[in-house]
Order: sequence, then C-alpha cells, then structure tokens
Amino acid sequence: MHIKAILAAALLLPSLNALAAGPADLDRGRFIVRFGGCNDCHTDGYMAKEGQVPEAQWLTGSPVGFQGPWGTSYAANLRLRIASLTEDEWVTVARARRQPPMPWFTLAELGDADLRAVYRYVRSLGPAGEPAPAYVAPGGTVTTPYIVFVPQMPEPPASRTARNVD
Ligand code: HEC
Repeated sequence: MHIKAILAAALLLPSLNALAAGPADLDRGRFIVRFGGCNDCHTDGYMAKEGQVPEAQWLTGSPVGFQGPWGTSYAANLRLRIASLTEDEWVTVARARRQPPMPWFTLAELGDADLRAVYRYVRSLGPAGEPAPAYVAPGGTVTTPYIVFVPQMPEPPASRTARNVD
C-alpha cells in the first residue's frame, strides 16, 4: 500500500470510531437501559409480563398515565424521541428535569459516555410505535387509563370498628 494511503487510513480511523456505534457501546447502552429499569415504565406491559416483552417493542412508551399532585404524566416513546434528536441534543435532553415518576435525577447521574451509549443503543433499535399521550395538568381532562400515584390510607380493621361501637 502507498505510504500516503496508510497515513490517511491511520488518521481517519479514530474519527470513524467516534462516529460509529461499536458493539461495546450497544452492549453498554442495553445494559444501562435494562438495569436502569427504563422498560418498567417506558414499555407497555413490561412489569406485568416480568420483562418478557420482545426487544422490538422496548421503550415505545405507555398509554397508561401516572396521576398525582403533578397532574398526569406518560412515559414517553423513547424510540421516536431519540430518532428526533442528535446525540449531542440527547445528552442535554436526558438530564432535564421531568414530571414524576420519571427518575430524571438518576438518569442525570450518568456521564456523557454512558448517555451516548444509551442513545446509540436505542437508536440502533430504530423508530417504532406511537407517541405517548400528552401530559395533562392537575384538574385537566384525562381520556386514558391511569395509575394513581398517591399513598392511600387503609380502612380501619373491622375488629377495631366493632370495639369502637361497643
Ligand atoms: C417510574 C417510571 C419511569 C422510569 C423507571 C423511567 N421513566 Fe422516563 N419517563 C417517565 C415519565 C412518566 C415521563 C414523562 C415525564 C414528563 O411528562 O415530564 C418520562 C420521560 C422521560 C424522558 C423525556 C422524554 C421527552 O419527551 O423528552 C426521557 C428522556 C426518559 N424518560 C428516559 C428514561 C430512561 C433512559 C430511563 C431509564 C434509565 C427512564 N426514563 C426510566 C417514567 C419513567
């Protein structure tokens, strides 16, 4: 090979590596997504099926809302969201404050390299599904099923009620 070609290849390699998502990135991103519990909320039915949901459906969002004092929030379709962002934009978006129960403060703990690995992994799955319903402010009209995320007080035990009556 001509010396110039070898030099050019040597110069090009590191920049190509930075652009291409290597298998190590994808494995790391997949590990973070699984261990970070992202599917628990961002994949419809994942908890109920104990994780037995095909990877093709992962992170496509949930049409079931989470309702609390903050209003009603929906776990976003991350496959579509990530498809609309550059990797640099994702690093900022991923650290933004969110409505409960999104553990945004946990995601914000990840360093740039880990966030980029998550981006590359989710991007490798490709866009899929529909956008999740829009957030509804407190008191607004909710048209989907929702989970009430508010502590409930138990009814007093029957025996105590009977004693109180005595
Ligand atoms: C307990 C449920 C829950 C878990 C676990 C969870 N999320 Fe979320 N996530 C949500 C909800 C609900 C929203 C919508 C919040 C809002 O409306 O502000 C959200 C929003 C987001 C957004 C903003 C999407 C947008 O529209 O810009 C990102 C990014 C995100 N989640 C990433 C993750 C990642 C990555 C993980 C795993 C590390 C994760 N989430 C784990 C519930 C969850």
